[in-house]
Amino acid sequence: MTNILEVDNVTKYFGAFRAINSCSLQVTAGTISGLIGPNGAGKSTMFNIVAGVHLPDSGTVTLNSTDVTGLPAHRMFHYGLLRTFQIPHEFSNVRVINNLLMVPPNQSGENLVTALFRPSAFKPQEENMRQKALEILEFIGLSHVKYELAGNLSGGQKKLLELGRTLMVDPKIVLLDELGAGVNRTLLSTLADNIKKLNEELKMTFFIIEHNMEFISRLCHDVSVMVEGEMVTNGSPEQVLNDPQVVEAYFGGGKRVQTSQPG
Ligand SMILES: Nc1ncnc2c1ncn2[C@@H]1O[C@H](COP(=O)(O)OP(=O)(O)OP(=O)(O)O)[C@@H](O)[C@H]1O
Ligand SMILES: [Mg+2]
Repeated sequence: MTNILEVDNVTKYFGAFRAINSCSLQVTAGTISGLIGPNGAGKSTMFNIVAGVHLPDSGTVTLNSTDVTGLPAHRMFHYGLLRTFQIPHEFSNVRVINNLLMVPPNQSGENLVTALFRPSAFKPQEENMRQKALEILEFIGLSHVKYELAGNLSGGQKKLLELGRTLMVDPKIVLLDELGAGVNRTLLSTLADNIKKLNEELKMTFFIIEHNMEFISRLCHDVSVMVEGEMVTNGSPEQVLNDPQVVEAYFGGGKRVQTSQPG
């Protein structure tokens, strides 16, 4: 089991406020790993450090055995690390399909996504990208709004568009920050199926922040829990969601975290 991502003893201050205190975590290649914790725990900050948006004050980030600490986001992108944002970053005055076509290719070589969507396709680059964009839109359920301006999409649809943009390149690891927030239950279930399919069939690694515990327990092989800037525990969804420390952090005790599967 190889770790595609390793975070070692990362600390991050915003001024005098310590948002992350010496946190470590690992993501095994080919898995779906989760990062959970109450609001303000430092989860998005952790993603920002991993994705090269913030520089940590101390600690290291290792991607595929390469120390990438402090590399800017576009370099992380070229290493095959992609992320979505808690607040979607769509180009609002650009049509949905063109939002996908604006993603720059990150690397040459075998195109994993094409392998899934169109196994034997060979077309000129531009037509190929367009075809791929159309198939991704189909896959994420946004075909019907492909010519809509992205700014007109619902909050949930913008999240799906963010996922679609990551699929335009050949990501090695995709970080999803609260993809489920604002997405309705049916769409969320479809999304979970799609993430599972991308993971199982293309061996794509996912690292996801999510407050929906059904989503977490349905998808994740492994979950890390942060509370107030500290890493409190790690394990299977079953283990961590029944961990008294985790229950206490979310509910102040007395209640079990709901772990049932969505229907
Ligand atoms: N750029 C920033 N400057 C100052 N403080 C920040 C900044 N970004 C985050 N923080 C603070 O750091 C703490 C952790 O924030 P973060 O966004 O990482 O939490 P989170 O776990 O993602 O929470 P949520 O579940 O609400 O998204 C919070 O107290 C937040 O206000
Ligand atoms: Mg957050």
